[in-house]
Amino acid sequence: MSAAPPPAAPGAGADASAGPACDAGPDAGAGADLVGLADLVELVVGDPAAGGGCVARAPDGRVVFVRHSLPGERVVARVTGETAHYLRADAVEVRTASPERVAPPCPAAGPGGCGGCDYQHVALDAQRRLKGRLVEVQLERLGGLRRQVEVEALPGSPDGLGWRTRVRFAADRAGNLGLHRHRSHELVPLGSCPLAAPEVAALDVVGRRWPGARHVEVLAVDTPDAPSALVTVDAPRPLPRSTLPRLGAGVGLTVAGRSRHGAGHVVATAGGRRYVVSAGAFWQVHRAAADALVAAVLDLLDPRPGEHVADLYAGVGLFSVPLGAAVGPRGKVIAVERHRAASADLVTNTALLPAVEVRVGAVEPSSVLDGDRLDLVVLDPPRAGAGTAVMAALDARRPRAVAYVACDPASFARDARVLLDAGWSLAALRAFDAFPMTEHVELVALLVPPGALHEAGR
Ligand SMILES: C[S@@+](CC[C@H](N)C(=O)[O-])C[C@H]1O[C@@H](n2cnc3c(N)ncnc32)[C@H](O)[C@@H]1O
Repeated sequence: MSAAPPPAAPGAGADASAGPACDAGPDAGAGADLVGLADLVELVVGDPAAGGGCVARAPDGRVVFVRHSLPGERVVARVTGETAHYLRADAVEVRTASPERVAPPCPAAGPGGCGGCDYQHVALDAQRRLKGRLVEVQLERLGGLRRQVEVEALPGSPDGLGWRTRVRFAADRAGNLGLHRHRSHELVPLGSCPLAAPEVAALDVVGRRWPGARHVEVLAVDTPDAPSALVTVDAPRPLPRSTLPRLGAGVGLTVAGRSRHGAGHVVATAGGRRYVVSAGAFWQVHRAAADALVAAVLDLLDPRPGEHVADLYAGVGLFSVPLGAAVGPRGKVIAVERHRAASADLVTNTALLPAVEVRVGAVEPSSVLDGDRLDLVVLDPPRAGAGTAVMAALDARRPRAVAYVACDPASFARDARVLLDAGWSLAALRAFDAFPMTEHVELVALLVPPGALHEAGR
């Protein structure tokens, strides 16, 4: 793979205005005939770009973001979108294949197919190298940080399949389920999704009809002796019981926000602890992610008895629970979460931990500025990141360490930059392949204030 920094496809979360630094290929050259929608063009493909494709140069000089291609390949691509500055295209024929190309395991993957996966045509270890490179570029471009990033495999999915504990299907007018085509509202009918965990596949929601539903989401975990499967139907109005498919006795069913059958939650496990997760509340999607993230965060932060911690964007308490146990009754964990169902679960899951205080509401600068002491912070925001105001408040407060858990490297890089510009250091960075077959990755970073690395003798 070339060492030049790849650009990001517009809308991919990274700085799309930055110029490309791709192998433009022998076909490059402005002034040639304009390439338009649905045209077929032969392209030599360069670096990977955020957004799932790789970058090439069209005969008319414009940048092309080419899905279903790999660096170094010569492909014939069909143009699927255009602006004055760039084109989007799908590789529909491969003239010179990369040695890292494989047959996609899912028949619905590929040009015009399901938009859920970006890298089905890429060998699993090469997927991780592509993702590592994408993270490196975003860290450098948006965070001003040069760092080599190795993406670690998670256990339990040696072929990159069967890892999703949660899948959200869309329903058509007749109630048949499918997944969306890339950048489209159109549905691809599916027999199944090979990324779904066996517990999800066993419910066979795709094999049933859901008239009146907009979406049907399945969350299924493998906890024995507890509610472990939940189907959540999003519908504009309550659906008559007679129209709903029959699910197994132990399967919870929630329709239009009302529990209709079984428990309205599952009991998931992480780090040997049990967590109630209700319909609509966040839980890590990869079956091994919750365990891996808890272990990584505790290892990096090393919480001690009596310390005060803020767990921001706490969800159902994935980190608050082990942190509450680690700091003990003399310590304190302020857990902040704004989602109604998730915060109710957070209260339930931390009920036996006197150190944990749940605050229901949005994370604000005041979430870290009030109180007399703050030693550690866990920050696990949604894709948009925490934002400058919260990061600046963290800098003002100077805890001894911040663990930042990120599903979007671009927003992590922007947020981290606020601390790095104030003299903080990135003391550790781990990247996990929590989303095989897609371009996505989960990061866990340790940020420490000025002087801390020196004091710790690192
Ligand atoms: C990526 S999830 C992480 C949850 C938890 N740390 C975990 O790993 O299970 C982000 C969480 O932040 C919550 N959230 C999103 N925006 C928020 C905000 N502005 N203030 C507080 N919570 C927010 C979401 O409801 C969600 O539970």
